[in-house]
Order: sequence, then structure tokens, then C-alpha cells
Amino acid sequence: MQDISVIILAAGFGTRMKSKTPKVLFKICDEYMIVHILKRAYEICNDVSVVLNYDFDNVKNVVLSHFPKTKIYKQDMKKFPGTAGALMNIDYKKKNTIILCGDMPLITKNELEKISQNDADIAVCAFRTENPYGYGRVITDANKIIKIVEEKDANLEEKSIKLVNSGCYCIKNKFLKEILSQISNNNTQKEYYLTDAISIANNMGLKVEFIEVNSRNFMGINDKYTLSIAQDIMQEDIKKFWMQNGVLFRLPKTTFVGVNVQFSGECIVEENSTILGNTTIKESHIKSCTVIEDSIIENSTIGPIARIRPKSIIKNSKIGNFVEIKNSNLNGVKAGHLSYIGDSDVDDGVNIGCGTITCNYDGIKKHKTIIQSNVFIGSGSQLIAPITIEKNSIIAAGTTVTKDVKEGCLAISRVRQENKDGYFYKIFKDKKC
Ligand code: UD1
Ligand code: CA
Repeated sequence: MQDISVIILAAGFGTRMKSKTPKVLFKICDEYMIVHILKRAYEICNDVSVVLNYDFDNVKNVVLSHFPKTKIYKQDMKKFPGTAGALMNIDYKKKNTIILCGDMPLITKNELEKISQNDADIAVCAFRTENPYGYGRVITDANKIIKIVEEKDANLEEKSIKLVNSGCYCIKNKFLKEILSQISNNNTQKEYYLTDAISIANNMGLKVEFIEVNSRNFMGINDKYTLSIAQDIMQEDIKKFWMQNGVLFRLPKTTFVGVNVQFSGECIVEENSTILGNTTIKESHIKSCTVIEDSIIENSTIGPIARIRPKSIIKNSKIGNFVEIKNSNLNGVKAGHLSYIGDSDVDDGVNIGCGTITCNYDGIKKHKTIIQSNVFIGSGSQLIAPITIEKNSIIAAGTTVTKDVKEGCLAISRVRQENKDGYFYKIFKDKKC
């Protein structure tokens, strides 16, 4: 790790998102925008700071719960609004500082390394785009960067420039304080623009350079449309990675895979499935329209149209359509259709009949269901938890199980059937139903 620190600017209101949620707490591929950037920052250094203001406590909690060593600063928005204002009260100890915006979740380690190795006094990452709207325009003269002009302050000629500021900079700390002290808020927005650092550094006679980077990786998220584009790009990268590592997606564009999902061995994922959270899938087949969240699936078939909720561990099992499983351990289980299995431990060789429900909630507390090995649960049964069904037992179809079932028993709790001859004709006579 080099003598470098990273500062992530995330104090802005994110007005263009038109939301109460701060921009950096929107999720992309099932992870907070700010966490994507923190991950990249920690890949290149271990001194990372975040500047916050809007919804300070919530953003701070997310940052520290993922990366507890991160330094948190609060920007004084009244006195110093703007991207340079965000940098006013920071303690700069390392040789160089990389400045990133909290709304560039597609940045890559490679490009951050590239900018950190640049030896200019101030280097800016810039990219070319057919649609420069909203970005600061980079004004150059014979390959030298002269200044950056913000969209709101640009004249018509400047607006047509397609080389834009990515919002990522690497600055030598020995010049940073001096540069910041010269930035004023003399612009349309009445903000302290970090982009003014370029012309100031040029006036100071410093070495100022721009590095051309990939527009895809440095895209800034300003509204829900750009958020959706970034999400599409990241989804494609995630699935491409897993396909190259042996996962078969039947219709990849229709499947949503979170960035923290892990696959191993040979897996198949059919169309319209959603896999989220810290899910691990090993040697399994996920059939269409299935949702899996924060669970472990091993050597199993899940779906079509199944829902596996958090904290489920399913191994060597076959889970079919309209089965919902939550916070349960299943090993060697068949649950083919229409069941709810919650807060349960289900052992090897258990067959769960269609329409079985673990009644895990009594209105106040959740309770556990334990089903030992080799149990046959007949269709339409309700298992009122807390309950234990010992091994080698049978639950008759339609039974409401309220007492523990001992090994080898048949549990049956239903009204005996009576057939009354000719009853139809007595009631309805010759009526057609
Ligand atoms: C900024 C750049 C623009 C660049 C673009 C790249 C400036 C003035 N403009 O514009 O040249 O092309 O990024 O995406 O720097 N922030 C703070 N404190 C503030 C204001 C913003 O921390 O007072 C943070 C925001 O939370 C955000 C980042 O800085 O994460 C960028 O702010 P944003 O308002 O999105 O800047 P842009 O208008 O996109
Ligand atoms: Ca932005």
C-alpha cells in the first residue's frame, strides 16, 4: 500500500434523486452505492475518509458497519457548500490524496491504481462522452488541461465539449491546503467548486495533468435513470463473471444477482430468478421465478417459483413450486409444492406433503419446529410450533399437530368421515349444481 489516502465526498443532498434517501444509500446490485466505492478505496489503501452531511447518522452507520476503520467527517454546508467545501476541515497526513465522489460506483481498482501512480501535482480523471450534459467540461490546450467549467457556468461553445471531468482527482497534499484556500464561491451555484483547483494549480505553476479513463467506469449517478444504467452495467459484469466460472444462466438478462452472491461448482439458474444478500449456491439448480435471499443452497433443486428467505440452509434437497422457507435447516428433504417452512430443522429423508404449514408464530413469539429423519408429513398438515416430530413417524394428511410425536408413531387428528346415502337427492332433489 502506498503513501496515499482516499477521501470520498458524500455530503450532498442528491436533490436530483427526488428522494428522502441519501443518494449514496441507494443500492446497486443489492449493495449500497457508498459501499461499492469503499470496497474499491480499501483495495488500494488503508486510509479512507468519508465526508458526510445529509442524513449523517444513517450514512455513517452504513459506512462504519461495513468498514469500521473509516474516518468520518461532517461538512459545514452553511459556511462551505460544494465539492471543495467538503475538503476544508480534513487532516491530510499522507503524501497524496485521491478524491472520489460518492456517486461513482463503477470505478475499478485498476483505474484507481493508475491515477495513484501518476506523478503530477494534481491529476484529474477525464473521459469522453457523446452526452456530456451535467458534467464539468474539461478545457484543454494542446493536451494540457487549462480548467474545468461546470455545466451551469458553461457557455454554448464550452457545452459542446465532450471531454468531461469524472470527479476523481489525485492531489499532492503539500499543495492541497494552499489550493483550497484560493477556491471561492464566485459562481452560479454560490458553492466552493473543487473543479476550480485546476485553474488555481495552473496559476501556481504546478504540474497539472488529466488521465483519460473509461467513461463506463466513471459514470456519475445523479438521478434514478443513471442509477438504472449503472445497475444494468454492473449486473452484466456480475453474471459474465459467474458464467465464465461455470454458472449457466438460461436467460441471463432476466436474472438479478446481487454483488455479494457466491456460486461454486456447476450451477444452473433459470430465467426471472432473483438471488440476493450473502447467498452461497453450490452444485444446485435454481428453476425459474425463484427468489433466494441470504441463504446457503447446496446440491439441491429449488423452484420453479419458490421463495427462500434469509438464514435458510438447504442441502441435498428438492424444493418445488410455491414453497416458502425461512430461517430453517433442511438436509435431504423433499417439499414439492405449496408449503411454508419457517424456523425449522428438518432432517434427512423427510417428505413434506403439499400444503404443509409450520405455524411458527403465536402472535407474540416465533417458535421452532423440529422434524427428525425419515418422517412422512401428509398433505395439508399444520404443525403448531414449538413442536418436535421424532424420526420414522407419519403425520396423516390434514392433521393439526399440537403435541410432540414420538418415534415410529402415526399422528392423526381429523374428524372421521361419514358417508350418508342418498343425501344429495334429499336436499337438492333434481337441482343441477
Ligand atoms: C461533479 C463535478 C463535475 C463532474 C461530476 C462528475 C464539481 C463542482 N463538479 O458535479 O465537474 O463532472 O461531479 O460526476 O465538483 N458533495 C459533497 N459536498 C457538497 C457537494 C457535493 O460532499 O457540498 C458530494 C456529493 O455527495 C457527491 C459528489 O460530491 O457524491 C459530487 O456531487 P454532485 O452534486 O453529484 O456533483 P456533480 O454536479 O455531479
Ligand atoms: Ca454527480
